[in-house]
Amino acid sequence: MATLYLILLTLHNLTRWLVLIAGVWALLVSVRGIGGARPFTPADRRPVALFAGSVHLQVVLGLLLFGLLGATAGRAFSDAPRASFQWEHLGLMLVAAVFATLASALSRRAASNQAGFRVAALWSGLALVVILVGIPWWRPLLRLFS
Ligand code: HEM
Repeated sequence: MATLYLILLTLHNLTRWLVLIAGVWALLVSVRGIGGARPFTPADRRPVALFAGSVHLQVVLGLLLFGLLGATAGRAFSDAPRASFQWEHLGLMLVAAVFATLASALSRRAASNQAGFRVAALWSGLALVVILVGIPWWRPLLRLFS
């Protein structure tokens, strides 16, 4: 169980960087399109979809970690500061996942190119802010099974 936890924690740690890179890429591409005459193409949609997909993967890994902590009772819930971090982290990241999903889903259905860029920029930006706030920056920046 401890080994599985460490494998998932390592994946969760590294996927964080994929989430952040995809989020910044999605934001840059969509902000660049606002105010211009460019069409909202599949190439513009790609980083927005990658951002939402990587956040969903991170949510799955996070929920597994959370479940394992619960299953190995005591690790999570006997330690008050750690338990409160985990509930805050869970809440913030679920909100971020909804925002990243809205960025991808609403921009795909937008009535015009401009609306597509605007909606993608708004929801990706909000998701990114919530993620930056929710990441426990005091924990290792890169973890490799340790
Ligand atoms: C975009 C979404 C998320 C990002 C970027 C993120 C990022 C992180 C990072 C960087 C860590 C520290 C990893 C380490 O210590 O090596 C962490 C820990 C953790 N995260 Fe997430 N996370 C996300 C979503 C979630 C979700 C939805 C849950 C669900 C509960 C979750 C549960 C956890 C747990 C249980 C830990 C380990 C805490 C511990 O061992 O004390 N995460 N997260």
